[in-house]
Amino acid sequence: MAVASTSLASQLSAQFSGLRRSSPKLDHSQSQSLFQHVQSHIRLSSSRKGCRGVVAMAGTGKFFVGGNWKCNGTKESITKLVSDLNSAKLEADVDVVVAPPFVYIEQVKNTLTDRIEISAQNSWVGKGGAFTGEISADQLNDIGCKWVILGHSERRHVIGEDDQFIGKKAAYALSQGLGVMACIGEKLEEREAGKTFDVCYQQLKAFAGKFLDAVPSWDNVVIAYEPVWAIGTGKVATPVQAQEVHVAVRDWLRKNVSAEVASKTRIIYGGSVNGGNSAELAKQEDIDGFLVGGASLKGPEFATIINSSADYKAQLKSTAINFQLFLFLLPILLILFMASYSTSWRFNFPLWRQEHDPKQRAGASPLGVAILVVVLLVLLSYQSSFHSKWFGPLWRTG
Ligand code: PGA
Repeated sequence: MAVASTSLASQLSAQFSGLRRSSPKLDHSQSQSLFQHVQSHIRLSSSRKGCRGVVAMAGTGKFFVGGNWKCNGTKESITKLVSDLNSAKLEADVDVVVAPPFVYIEQVKNTLTDRIEISAQNSWVGKGGAFTGEISADQLNDIGCKWVILGHSERRHVIGEDDQFIGKKAAYALSQGLGVMACIGEKLEEREAGKTFDVCYQQLKAFAGKFLDAVPSWDNVVIAYEPVWAIGTGKVATPVQAQEVHVAVRDWLRKNVSAEVASKTRIIYGGSVNGGNSAELAKQEDIDGFLVGGASLKGPEFATIINSSADYKAQLKSTAINFQLFLFLLPILLILFMASYSTSWRFNFPLWRQEHDPKQRAGASPLGVAILVVVLLVLLSYQSSFHSKWFGPLWRTG
């Protein structure tokens, strides 16, 4: 249901974020048939939860936070970071993954709590062999790595990897059972030229296209939207800027893959996320988590980011309580209303009966009806004002 709301939401959000929305240049006739083909290869697990109308986030319904340690750390600093993470109190309902440099993976694996999974920061495009300096997905599997980050902007723009190469890597990693954090994102000049969506769609298409080869499942894919201009710059995208791209990505998945994949796939945001801005970003409906660089090197701050969905969940909980209150009040109001029609009920309640004619059977007073309608409207708008993921999608289906 939330997916149906995304196109409307994207139209609305594009109006106020200042992002020029150039019309997607994807050839839909082509991509439809490509993705219909993909769809037939995708095994979708119907047993998984994750309906966006019921849970806070898409995907498994769990918030997802990845820590990308990049080329940072020493044995000593990593020992400290791991110990901070081990002693941190982490929200149970969040998937947490860290990506140490290859050479420290073993150290981290041996010392870090099982609560946190381990990712690599890259993997080779296919099976291992004579590829000096590379690490294959098979080897990552062998040492117990569950995830790999692919398509990171530093690999794209510093190392020079292109869409095709990255798509191939993703297909191979998925075929080996690894989860893939598939990174996409535009450069500043692309954003300024109004090409944000085009760039993201193009990168998504490259990831998705290669899935044809590997018969993978989207269940193992987390999409990380990381605007290049926000990475390591301290210039975080505003919640509105991030949300509008996430909505567009989800909409793209819905149009080009399937509504189910669009609904389940977690779309996380990366780019200067820190302990101070994560809670605000986490409130956005289509932000299902974060990929964190610099701030993931500080254990306590990373824990704050991991727990940043908690505030929002508290709000959802209060929305749920309000919804229960609404359900509780509704029959009472209806009974009172019905009472006004009954001559056998000896209420002479002026709001509900017309005083001037107490024998009239259908005697609800206009004031009584008006009060009933106002109470219902207030309750309804109170619910929807939370922008509730729990309840809001019920009427945000436009
Ligand atoms: P940053 O990096 O949080 O340091 O901006 C994010 C990333 O590169 O994934």
